[in-house]
Amino acid sequence: MKRASLLALVLAAWAVPADAATASRETFGSLPDGREVAAIVLTNQAGMKVRILAYGALVQELTVPGRSGPADVVLGYDGIEGYLAAPNYFGASVGRYANRIAGGRFELDGKAYQLARNDGPNALHGGVKGFDKRLWTVGDVSANAQQASVTLTYLSPDGEEGYPGTLQVSATYTLTESNDLKIDYRATTDKATIVNLTNHSYFNLAGANSGVSILESLLKIPAETFTPVDETLIPTGEFRSVSGTPFDFLTLRRIGDRIRDGRDAQLRFGRGYDHNWVVSRTVVAEPQVLAYLEDPASGRVMEVLSNQPGIQFYTGNFLDGTVTGKAGTIYRMGDALCLEPQIFPDTPNQPEFGSARLDPGKVYQNSIVYRFSVKPPSSGS
Ligand code: GLA
Repeated sequence: MKRASLLALVLAAWAVPADAATASRETFGSLPDGREVAAIVLTNQAGMKVRILAYGALVQELTVPGRSGPADVVLGYDGIEGYLAAPNYFGASVGRYANRIAGGRFELDGKAYQLARNDGPNALHGGVKGFDKRLWTVGDVSANAQQASVTLTYLSPDGEEGYPGTLQVSATYTLTESNDLKIDYRATTDKATIVNLTNHSYFNLAGANSGVSILESLLKIPAETFTPVDETLIPTGEFRSVSGTPFDFLTLRRIGDRIRDGRDAQLRFGRGYDHNWVVSRTVVAEPQVLAYLEDPASGRVMEVLSNQPGIQFYTGNFLDGTVTGKAGTIYRMGDALCLEPQIFPDTPNQPEFGSARLDPGKVYQNSIVYRFSVKPPSSGS
């Protein structure tokens, strides 16, 4: 027995070069209807580890090195049951339309569509059963000396959750040896439709289980305007200057500095930050930096890049202690934040916001990069 496992170890070490990234498949659990939920684990030699589930094409674990060792920096659950019972979009790929559409209504080529309304009067994150609650198909899994990756796909039928057109969606996750976690979302359609796909990971760079609030993290967003909202978190249509407001993250700021400023109606509507920052007005050719996040204690830094024009910065304001996540930890407001590259919320109803339209023959693409590094203790910000 001992000799057999020793032999297996030797063989494994021989098969995989010591300097390679790895990709392996495991079973995470199964759905109530018996379908297996596969997990793909990507690792690199620099100490990063990512576990992606076929359910919701979601990030279940994201272990990142810090000054005093590695930590898992995303919220989630240890088992599939948690994701089924109280999903909260933890780590999920959201669509067809990330964030809100007013009244769940929009028009395309003169035809009115009514979507499922799952957030008060509005449609949120693709509806009652969005892409975050679907079992995706695991496609290519590969690894070499520079990177490891997996592609998941999902075919959304015409009319699903009220959206027109059959949508073929893919999410390719790639972990590189330089500590980039990339997500490349793509979609094609057979009929004109609207699309806005993003990832809804809840980050805490101090560690998901550290007990350190994200209010201590430092954030920079290179956006001179944001899109203010009404009480139901639908954009008013205005592009408002961040200047002189708690929304100014043009220079590095501690997140907690101004989050409780109740004189600002926007912070009251969001119960904190839950807004879209405007980095550019349209989709750009190459991913650009949308946000820089730093945890001073661990030295962990995450830059978020994307070709999308906006970024939703959400401080987990709906986490109210009713959910118990990984390692039996109760999640509360301030435990994590989301940084979601996107087309602006409610774009289909906001003439000034551009377009979320996808036509047959075109490819929708959101190329996200989460770039991790560790800041040396001595250097300035
Ligand atoms: C987004 C929204 C929030 C909230 C979360 C999910 O970030 O902007 O208002 O709905 O998703 O809880």
